[in-house]
Amino acid sequence: MSLPATYLALVCREYGQPLALETRPTPAAVPGSAVIKVLSALVDPSEKSRLLMNKRNIHFSQQPPFVPGNCAVGRVAAVANDATTLRVGQLVLLECFVRGRDDPNAQALRAVFEGPSPSAKRLTHQEDLWRDGHWAEYTRAPLETCWPLDEKALLGRVEEGGLGYKMSDIPYLAKHAIAYGAFRTIDLKAGETIVIGPATGNHGGAAVQVASAMGARTIAVSRNVDALRKLRESIPRVETVALTGNPGEDVKLLSQFGPIDAFLDFTPAGIQTPPYLKAFALSLKPYGRGVLAGFPHGDVSLPYGLMVGKNITIRGSLMYQPEDVRGLIKLAERGLLKLGKSSGSEVFGGYTLDQHDEAITKAHEHQVWGTQVSFELEE
Ligand SMILES: NC(=O)c1ccc[n+]([C@@H]2O[C@H](COP(=O)([O-])OP(=O)(O)OC[C@H]3O[C@@H](n4cnc5c(N)ncnc54)[C@H](OP(=O)(O)O)[C@@H]3O)[C@@H](O)[C@H]2O)c1
Repeated sequence: MSLPATYLALVCREYGQPLALETRPTPAAVPGSAVIKVLSALVDPSEKSRLLMNKRNIHFSQQPPFVPGNCAVGRVAAVANDATTLRVGQLVLLECFVRGRDDPNAQALRAVFEGPSPSAKRLTHQEDLWRDGHWAEYTRAPLETCWPLDEKALLGRVEEGGLGYKMSDIPYLAKHAIAYGAFRTIDLKAGETIVIGPATGNHGGAAVQVASAMGARTIAVSRNVDALRKLRESIPRVETVALTGNPGEDVKLLSQFGPIDAFLDFTPAGIQTPPYLKAFALSLKPYGRGVLAGFPHGDVSLPYGLMVGKNITIRGSLMYQPEDVRGLIKLAERGLLKLGKSSGSEVFGGYTLDQHDEAITKAHEHQVWGTQVSFELEE
């Protein structure tokens, strides 16, 4: 595969301003990297608010200019000579979580989050490193964020034993990986009962899919009865309940499901206080586990003595460990985690880069789980 001299990329030059479609020189595959021909890149529902309306999550900090886009699928177009197994032509999932090779605790999210420390910021502050995302014809990525996919299994025709997915069904796997990483931190096991909430957003809904694929019995909660019904009807082993935000009432509502082994709290960034966290913590059985993966901007209080008396573990989870991505991909390749239409989602995958306004608006109009929007680029 020969690289062109230039490629097109969508660039955010200033928050609140339209994106620019710019021609850039194609990067070389310097040591430790691969250059990927992007084939489909997800458009997050939150990108209109963040990029065009300048309503930014206080936790997420990437300074412009940068190429947006944090989940994609593509084909390796060039690979550094220190790559050991990745080869040109291979289909790969691209994610955005980069870590310092000399300090894995220096962490940043390409196109989203510069990281909390000066060492993390080194990964994204230099334009030729890892600040840019995947809304582009080509992208250079660290080798360890290019995840080989079994193309025959995922995209092969159903009559030939494949799963029959479309290219645009694949990028959402990078969202599933966040939930899988969170579940692994609390050692979620098949057959256990886990409460997930709020469960009807882009990440919350992905988490319900993953918990079910891992064999857990999943209680999905939020306020939106219609969105909960869609989750229940689309995904196996899912039960739902609309919660009130009043811990006493919500504990009673959750008690109908018997002992709760674990919870995942995915509180959105726009709200101050996690609406369900206290009820989740109070509903856990002795030795229960909980994981916090949302980004509210306030605190929460929990009944100290009860947490001690019941030996409760609660921990945070940012993104995932590398082996989690590999494990998650296997769940999809084996058909346990469904993608695209077969997962109950509608995928609008036909947008070209110059249709960015339409794509971003479409995604913005569908904030609730069950709609995916993505750019699709020619091979
Ligand atoms: N830990 C990580 O590595 C990581 C990675 C990516 C994202 N995140 C974070 O994950 C969180 C969840 O993301 P998301 O995309 O699923 O959700 P989202 O789009 O940010 O929020 C939508 C969800 O929040 C609920 N919600 C909204 N306002 C509410 C309110 N006032 N009271 C109660 N519920 C409310 C909605 O439920 P209803 O159905 O009731 O409306 C819906 O389930 C975000 O904070 C995001 O930043 C974390």
